[in-house]
Amino acid sequence: MDWHKRYLQQAGWTRDLRAYLFAKAGIQTARRILEVGCGTGAILSTVDSSAALHGVDIDPHALAQCRVNAARAILTRGDGLALPYPNESFDLVFCHYFLLWVNDPLQAVREMKRVTRADGHVLALAEPDYFSRVDAPDELKPLGAWQAESLKRQGADPGFGARLAETFFEAGIKLEETGPVQPVGNEANAEEVELEWAVIESDLAGMVEEEEIQKMKLSDAAARGRGERVLRVPTYFAWGRVTH
Ligand SMILES: C[S@@+](CC[C@H](N)C(=O)[O-])C[C@H]1O[C@@H](n2cnc3c(N)ncnc32)[C@H](O)[C@@H]1O
Repeated sequence: MDWHKRYLQQAGWTRDLRAYLFAKAGIQTARRILEVGCGTGAILSTVDSSAALHGVDIDPHALAQCRVNAARAILTRGDGLALPYPNESFDLVFCHYFLLWVNDPLQAVREMKRVTRADGHVLALAEPDYFSRVDAPDELKPLGAWQAESLKRQGADPGFGARLAETFFEAGIKLEETGPVQPVGNEANAEEVELEWAVIESDLAGMVEEEEIQKMKLSDAAARGRGERVLRVPTYFAWGRVTH
């Protein structure tokens, strides 16, 4: 599975939202910006700003790829639950498909707040709620439950997106705006479908019988052919201001 390709796909879904929120959060005047859980750099490589651009991630392999994809960024290996920066180091701190992966998302948001200067901005751009995933027709509904179970087994909280806004509130960040991500660029063309199935097959390997997975894949293709396929994972964003 080429995870960078998947992250680029997800980056496509939030492209318009990022442009809107980064502008609101003062990206043009920011001097220091941080992405927490920057992964392979799918987002960092697109940030259009003259600010000093920092990325932190716990995974050295992802950081090695990020070094290539976002060559301008200053990268540090570190834990989002104990960020390796002094208080109030950044004007803008953001994350993207990150908080669901940490075992204490409130602590991660508190850390994002701590390293943001007073009157600076914290953005969680995309956190999914797989428990509310919508699949149609009905015969494809097991896919949602399987994927949520697989994410749990991988250490993620599949339903975190539904608690994103309250987590900002609990962390003491003044919420400016929150809501669902309206995806763009995820039209189900052949490449999108192939990538979606690569993720499903990778996630479900060893958990669901191969024959069951292939049955679903055929049903999915048939439903798409009839124009009846619906697949939606409600995903949420939150933008807050830090008052310290
Ligand atoms: C789904 S990827 C998203 C990467 C990137 N934000 C993007 O959207 O392309 C989640 C990233 O969070 C990182 N991560 C998970 N737990 C972490 C932690 N405790 N501290 C820092 N990074 C962490 C993983 O290594 C991975 O690179």
